[in-house]
Amino acid sequence: MKTVFSGLKPSGDMTIGNYLGAMKHWPTNQDSQRGIFFVPNLHAITVRQDPKLLLERTYDLIAWLLVCGIDPDTSVLLVQSLVPEHAELCWILDNYVTMGELSRMTQFKDKSRKLGNEGQLVGLFNYPVLMAADILLYDANEVPVGEDQMQHVELTRDIAKRFNSLYGDTFVMPKAVTPKVGSRIMSLDDPAVKMSKSAHEASYILLSDSPEAIRKKIKISVTDSENRVAYGPDKPGISNLLEIYAGFSDETVEEIEGRYQGKGYGELKADVAELLVQSLTELQERFRTIRGDQEKLEAIIFSGSQKARTIAGKKLSEVKQKVGLL
Ligand code: AQP
Repeated sequence: MKTVFSGLKPSGDMTIGNYLGAMKHWPTNQDSQRGIFFVPNLHAITVRQDPKLLLERTYDLIAWLLVCGIDPDTSVLLVQSLVPEHAELCWILDNYVTMGELSRMTQFKDKSRKLGNEGQLVGLFNYPVLMAADILLYDANEVPVGEDQMQHVELTRDIAKRFNSLYGDTFVMPKAVTPKVGSRIMSLDDPAVKMSKSAHEASYILLSDSPEAIRKKIKISVTDSENRVAYGPDKPGISNLLEIYAGFSDETVEEIEGRYQGKGYGELKADVAELLVQSLTELQERFRTIRGDQEKLEAIIFSGSQKARTIAGKKLSEVKQKVGLL
């Protein structure tokens, strides 16, 4: 049975980028494949977090994943800090990757440029190795990710190959898979950069945003001066709105584009906003019910993480034995 593995950092409230690029797709084929989904809170602390908020967002995120349809009895749902095997394997794998390789990671370069010297933490630099450990512990065949994470999965494959060639077959070679629509939702006020939950308010729509906030942000989103609805690299703002529309309506971009021939940006924006309001209101109602039962959420988190430890523990023992560690 194929193993599918993916995670979402609790480094902010979830955006529609996280939803369309990741969460929405995770429950697909849950019954016919082994799904392992996790909250990488150790990754989240590579950028300074408010401890109370971090905890709150960890519970929120598990609740959102349940809203999206993850079944904790069928899939494994875990929180990274409850499975210490992740950090331990990361330390071992650190010895099978070079500074040069990590220095080439685009996400580190982007984030460290934004954060300045003080934010260039060793943990942030080492992030891709922890991600490799996450993936390799579970023999993951497929890792559904947005485009921004493809490079990290490639590095994971390089590390796995290197380890396997030194010690014999140990790790399964993972493959990154990206959704056809929604793999890179862009910022609303600067469609040249991706939408990120840790960016500023006007750039994203959160799954928890109110109808007023959604309408306002879509209305002022950056487009271009043409007023012609079309998809293409020269129209990043409009293309982004079309992708969002397609992601929430499950239509193709071409179908939507066709319908808006001869219509202006105002109409497209109003329709995208209403579609979002309707879709997110439904998700938010389900979220409130699930999030309201803290005891049940805790039980799901602890039993899922325990299940994960059983799987991860076996792989870690194999690795330690091969390397010559007691
Ligand atoms: N804008 C996006 N479009 C499509 N997919 C996206 N993802 C993130 N942003 C977009 C996908 O969501 C998954 C989880 O990502 P993450 O939260 O672990 O880390 P990230 O990619 O760094 O997400 P953010 O929102 O940009 O977080 P911050 O701001 O904290 O760094 C991944 O599969 C990712 O591709």
